[in-house]
Amino acid sequence: MAYQNAIFHGSAADMKDLPDNSIDLVFTSPPYEARKVYDTPDGDIGRLRGDDFIAALKPIMEECHRVLKPSGNFFLNFQGQYCEGSFSLTEAKIPVVAVEEIGFDYIQPFYWTKTRPKPDNFGRRLKNVNEIIYHFAKDAKQYSVYKDSVREPSRYQGHDQTCKLCSTTLPGRMDKRSWKYNPKGRDPGNVIYSKGATGQGSGDTWNKATKRPKRDIHPALMPIELADFFVKYGSTEGDLVLDPFMGSGTTGISAARMGRDFVGYDVSGKYVDAAMIRCQEAHAYYHEQLRQTG
Ligand SMILES: C[S@@+](CC[C@H](N)C(=O)[O-])C[C@H]1O[C@@H](n2cnc3c(N)ncnc32)[C@H](O)[C@@H]1O
Repeated sequence: MAYQNAIFHGSAADMKDLPDNSIDLVFTSPPYEARKVYDTPDGDIGRLRGDDFIAALKPIMEECHRVLKPSGNFFLNFQGQYCEGSFSLTEAKIPVVAVEEIGFDYIQPFYWTKTRPKPDNFGRRLKNVNEIIYHFAKDAKQYSVYKDSVREPSRYQGHDQTCKLCSTTLPGRMDKRSWKYNPKGRDPGNVIYSKGATGQGSGDTWNKATKRPKRDIHPALMPIELADFFVKYGSTEGDLVLDPFMGSGTTGISAARMGRDFVGYDVSGKYVDAAMIRCQEAHAYYHEQLRQTG
């Protein structure tokens, strides 16, 4: 069976459908150690905690390593959980397993800071508003990222000053530091501000065009803007994007509407069916936009 633009029903512990070195980008959010109950217990690693969880996640990370191209990127989103008042060490152990046991290179951590976190009341500790996104690569010397695609407008631009980085004249208001600014915009850094996982990027064209999905599709919908950032940064048009924990299809939707191919897995047939419909709509939306813009 062709694997481009397919979502397979089954555990990602065995991605036999995917050849070695075939994937440009893996972006995924596995279950967080018994935090939520998903559709089916069969193969759901989210029913496990601590070292049992790590032991179940490891073969899936190994498969990601096998299928990733040497130029590819692997972004894994996770948030540590509390067990009897104590913060689980799983968040700290994941990069150790990835690097020391599987052979990934660790490029950097990203932080997803929630600007509208859910109310939280856990006694004396404060609310945890951050989730981590580890950036791993198969080869630190060969991975390809697309920094210009995620640049933000510079706060200060230079007026008739020459940029020392690119030797072009920078428009905008005078600032004595302007020679440092890249005219393509500033590096956004490794913190991504977004609301919590409560919806799918309200107000963007995609949602207007397709009607905003209801929350009951899946208990852990990721904000689409988070997937969009990593799909843009870690891949380019025509690339193949994998999510081994596809859930409602957020990664596939983001990939499809930006002209990438997608592939994914989920142990729930219900989620696979819902995700496939949503990804196919995104794919059709991308091609309609292309047609309209010629
Ligand atoms: C955190 S959710 C992913 C949510 C997704 N990012 C979205 O926006 O909808 C994790 C998903 O992993 C699935 N899952 C759990 N164990 C799995 C396994 N071994 N292989 C594939 N999928 C699995 C669950 O069914 C659940 O849908």
